[in-house]
This record gives sequence, C-alpha cells and structure tokens, in this order.
Amino acid sequence: MNSFTFTYPTKVYFGENAAKDNLPGEMEKYGNTVLLTYGGGAIKKNGIYDEIVAILNDCGKRVVEFSGIMSNPTYKKVCEGIALAKEKKVDFILAVGGGSVIDASKIISAGAKFDGDMWEAQYVKHIMPTEFIPMGAVVTAFGTGAEMNNGAVITNEEKMQKSPLWGASYDFAVLDPVYTMTMPMKRVISGAFDTLSHCMETYFGTPRGDNLSDEINEAVMRSVIRNIRMTLKGPESLHARSELIWAAAMGENGILKTGKVTDFQCHMLEHQLGAYTDCNHGFGLAVIHPVLYRHIYKNAEEQFTRFAKNVWGKATAEEGIKALADFIKEIGLPTTLAEMGITDDSIFKPIAKSTIRTPGCCKKLTDDELIEILNECK
Ligand code: NZQ
Ligand code: ZN
Repeated sequence: MNSFTFTYPTKVYFGENAAKDNLPGEMEKYGNTVLLTYGGGAIKKNGIYDEIVAILNDCGKRVVEFSGIMSNPTYKKVCEGIALAKEKKVDFILAVGGGSVIDASKIISAGAKFDGDMWEAQYVKHIMPTEFIPMGAVVTAFGTGAEMNNGAVITNEEKMQKSPLWGASYDFAVLDPVYTMTMPMKRVISGAFDTLSHCMETYFGTPRGDNLSDEINEAVMRSVIRNIRMTLKGPESLHARSELIWAAAMGENGILKTGKVTDFQCHMLEHQLGAYTDCNHGFGLAVIHPVLYRHIYKNAEEQFTRFAKNVWGKATAEEGIKALADFIKEIGLPTTLAEMGITDDSIFKPIAKSTIRTPGCCKKLTDDELIEILNECK
C-alpha cells in the first residue's frame, strides 16, 4: 500500500429533513450575506428552493442569488459567479443542486478570494488557490459525489477543454434522499452509473489486488448495481435511493482511494467528449467504459478477473467486461455514441489529442488508440 494521509473536512448531514434540522445551526457559524447558487430552476418546481430560502430568511440572512448554472458548467458562467461574489462581499456560499452547481460553486468560492484568472493560475502558472469563501452543499441530484471533494470539472469553451480546477472542500453537505425523489429516472440512473464508474476508476488504479481499499470498493460496486436494479423496479424506494446517495459519497470521499493512485482514464476521455458535445456525463461513461476496458484489460488481467469474480460472479476478465456491458444495456443507458446523438467523427482526433493521460491507468494510450476506441463507440 502507498503511504497516505487521511483527513476529512466535510461534515455530512444525511437523512430525511436533514436541511430543516441542520441548516439553521450551521448558518449561525457564518456571516450575514449568503450566495445561493442553483441551476436552471428544477428546485423552484419541486419546492426545495422555497424550503431553503425560508430557512435562510428565518436565520436573518441577506440572500444573493446566482442561478442558471448549467450542466457541464462553463468557465464563463463561473467567472460571472466570481464577479458577483466579489461585488456583494459574500460571506458564505450555499450550493443547492447536482454536480454542476456544486462544482461551479467551489471555483466561485476560490475565485472570489483570488486576484487573477483561475484557469491561467492553475494551468499556466501552476498556482493553487489557498483562500476560500466557506461553503455548504445541499445535494438535490446525486451520483458525482462532488460534495465530497475539492475538485471541480469545468468546461473552458474557448480552449475546448473540460478539465478539473481545484477549489475548496465543502464545510458541510446535506444529503436528504427525499430531495432527490423528483429527479428524472434517466438522471438517477446516469448519476448512479457515474458512481459505479468512480469505483471502477479507483479499483483499476495502482496498486491492484490484495488491499482493503479494493475490498471495500467491491462491496460499494455490488451495492450500486443492486440498488440501481431496485430503483428501476420501484422508483419510489427511499431505501434504494438512500443507498445510492451514500454510495455516491463513498465513491468520492477518499476512503476507496486510500493507498492508491487512481485510474480515471475513462473520465478524462469522456470529459473531452463533453467539451466537444456537451453530453450527459454518465451517458458518455456508459458508452466508453466497456470499449476502453476491452482495449486495456490484458495489462491488468488479474484485477479484471478479480472484478469479474467479486463484482459480477463471473470467471474471467472478458466475462466481467461483458457483464458490465450487458448491465449498461439492461438499465437503459446508451451503448453507442449514435444513441447519444453524436455522429460527427471529425471530433475524434481533437478529442484524442486533448485527452489527459492518467498515471494510474494500466496502459498508456496513444492518440491513435483513443481514436480507435472512439470509433468502436460509434
Ligand atoms: O438545472 P436544473 O433545472 O436545476 O435541473 C437539474 C439538472 O438538469 C436537475 N435536477 C437537480 N436536482 C433535481 C433536478 N431535477 C429534478 N429534481 C431534482 N431534485 O438535474 C440536472 C443535474 O445536472 P448536473 O448537476 O449537471 O448533473 P450531475 O449531478 O450528474 O453533475 C454532472 C457534472 O459533474 C461533473 C460532470 O463532469 C458534470 O459536469 N463531475 C464532477 C465530479 C466531481 N467534482 O467530483 C466527478 C464526476 O466524475 C463528474 O465529472
Ligand atoms: Zn464521474
């Protein structure tokens, strides 16, 4: 096992009424002006907005709103949020939404305390932010586990790059399964598959095999698979939803990653697919994963065999990858780029060229191999 330091900065409030029960106490700790960040309006339709604003009003907070954060949030949108947070001298940021709102808010928190361009600072000058506006997240769409880490995936449209920027960790996260019951089923499943992907991306990193992180990971993967099936059978099951939400947090809270260098090569390729097509993250992963794994499994055959046995109950690495592909089909996720409406293969070359290669992947893929993988995804 590699050496590691484990500490956890985010306090989690999990369960029904978690916002009503815990937000007032949390809000006492912070200053008066709260930047409430959210997306395109789903929370206004399902009543979450009214509930949260009422709590903030009861706490006597001055609420400044920043809405319209889109899926696959753009750097331009993040910069607007930074400017607003600076102008209104915000004391605290409350992000209410899914991964996109939660990610964008991390960079708003860092950018509001930073003099200069966040993208250039991190990618050109290699300066990481050190000061942040404190933040809380209320998760209304789950899967990414973004509430449990300090990375934000932001699309720089000018540079055609969807890449991580590093921001702050949340001071607290509210996970109320009831808040997620209005998510469209398509989003529930794509989000839960994203969780499974995070687990796999960690599992296939190094070192592989006989270690506690991988054994816990296998249990989380089995749980996600079981609860996706249960959710599809009974969408109203609060139990299955709760399990999936906590699994999403487990995927990204660092416990599965202790002692490991993660893989995340599939994510890097999917992020660039997202930069060029603005596609749904979970859908892109579902299409790429089996194809990518068929290309690389021989470089880590023992771990792929272990995955087949311990996660899918199959005997060989090939059968494990087939079980994954069959599962993707079974749960109604797309299996080809065409099903996602992506038919222009002229984007494959720039996507391959701009895809980050990860140190934890069992094979260092060339541009040509990535193009081949994308062609097989067609
Ligand atoms: O925009 P509104 O109207 O709010 O609608 C949202 C949005 O369309 C809707 N929604 C949210 N809560 C709802 C609801 N609809 C009904 N009822 C509710 N309770 O659902 C959609 C959510 O979209 P989004 O936030 O984009 O989805 P997701 O949570 O999958 O986040 C995806 C983003 O996270 C990044 C992805 O790349 C993508 O940009 N990721 C972030 C990670 C991280 N920071 O750790 C890890 C992931 O691998 C991922 O890359
Ligand atoms: Zn993901």
